[in-house]
Amino acid sequence: MANSAELTVDGKSYSFPTLEGTEHEKAFDISSLRDQTGYVTLDRGYKNTGATKSAITFLDGEEGILQYRGYAIEDLAAKASFLEVAYLLIYGELPTKEQYAVFETAIRRHTLVNEDMRKIFDGFPVKAHPMGVLSSLVSAMSAFYSDIEGSSEEDKTDLHIIRLLAKLPTIATWSYKRSLGHPMNYPKNQLDYIPNFLNMMFSLPVEDYKIDPVVVEALNVLLILHADHEQNCSTSTVRLVGSSQANIYSSISAGISALWGPLHGGANQEVIEMLEAIRADGGDVSKYVDMAKNAKTTGFRLFGFGHRVYKNFDPRAKIIKKAADDVLSKLGVNDPVLEIAKGLEEAALHDDYFISRKLYPNVDFYSGIIYRALGIPTNMFTVMFAIGRLPGWIAQWKEMREQKEPIGRPRQIYTGATLREFTPLSKR
Ligand code: SDX
Repeated sequence: MANSAELTVDGKSYSFPTLEGTEHEKAFDISSLRDQTGYVTLDRGYKNTGATKSAITFLDGEEGILQYRGYAIEDLAAKASFLEVAYLLIYGELPTKEQYAVFETAIRRHTLVNEDMRKIFDGFPVKAHPMGVLSSLVSAMSAFYSDIEGSSEEDKTDLHIIRLLAKLPTIATWSYKRSLGHPMNYPKNQLDYIPNFLNMMFSLPVEDYKIDPVVVEALNVLLILHADHEQNCSTSTVRLVGSSQANIYSSISAGISALWGPLHGGANQEVIEMLEAIRADGGDVSKYVDMAKNAKTTGFRLFGFGHRVYKNFDPRAKIIKKAADDVLSKLGVNDPVLEIAKGLEEAALHDDYFISRKLYPNVDFYSGIIYRALGIPTNMFTVMFAIGRLPGWIAQWKEMREQKEPIGRPRQIYTGATLREFTPLSKR
């Protein structure tokens, strides 16, 4: 029997169907709420509002569980490659050897970016933040790659997907190289996905660049951990823009812009800058914990702490924290901010302010420490997040289109002036 929820308002009772997901999440279906009652709901930040049904990612914030298409994040991070996970998120199943070979080869053969796109780079100030450059160049892809052959919409979408996955690392590294005044590197088709990215990021014409397998493995784990996270701010942005039938490049470009915010993906850059400030200030973590507890007067937040959904340890933060120790010791890097981060975590997790608000380290708290040990500059941290999140954005955009979701258009409660007469300027 389908369950229902009863609502009594203005003395009348209404019934709304309820539904339950495969992991037993429950929802009231209020699609007919306004038609039946004249009421809308109000839910600032959509803290209690499900925007869609999705089969891509499941997370349980209370238990600290994260699964992509039913596979535990711990398994995928330890056993899969980033492109395998990209295929899983986008097409719903782990690829067979043959499927993987076709997918990976297609990506390898589309890493080159239209040469005219380089002219767009030249229009940016050299020190432009790479996230602004990335969002602009991805949006520009709609001008360079929209008129494509392909028998069906599905074939066309598959080619757009390959082009995005293949070209994002190239575009990302170009903004970094330009900011250094270094020549931009072209991709090398003989290199795998992550080694190709590293070579474009760090190689110089004047010396050979040796790709370190420790760095490749660490990046593989980080990209997998960032690959999707259900209906977060940037993913919801991609779905909302895509729901108007805007093309995939414009939708992804909007997602990159949303991710840039310091409360979202931009937090990984903020964390390192915060840890550096604590270090420069003598390393007294309790002082900063106190500042965070008085956020209303200090305006200070512990970046990398807290989460809209996780009210337990972010499972990604657990994996990244362990990886940070492994990678830094393998690379022989001794980064003092790692100890400051651990001290901050220890102090916060024993403080009632954080315990009562269930504020734990999130994915951004330790990731920057690894990026830095890999030689990636701070202002490229959120770009790394975007490269990792790209398959998730694509998967969610594709699902939204396949589900034929209606255009997203929330309602509001109006609180402005009621109807009033217009007074001509001569009389004002
Ligand atoms: C990501 O949604 C996703 O899935 C995102 C993400 C993904 O993979 O896509 O996981 C990636 O964005 C991770 C989050 C990165 N952001 C940060 O690290 C920024 C610092 N964290 C916060 O700003 C905050 O925790 C948010 C934005 C992450 C969540 O904000 P909410 O859910 O709106 O919670 P809130 O701001 O209402 O906070 C509740 C309380 C408040 O105190 P009171 O008003 O109850 O007194 O907790 C406090 C907040 O002041 N609080 C913090 C805090 N985060 C929340 N206090 C100090 N330091 C913090 N970091």
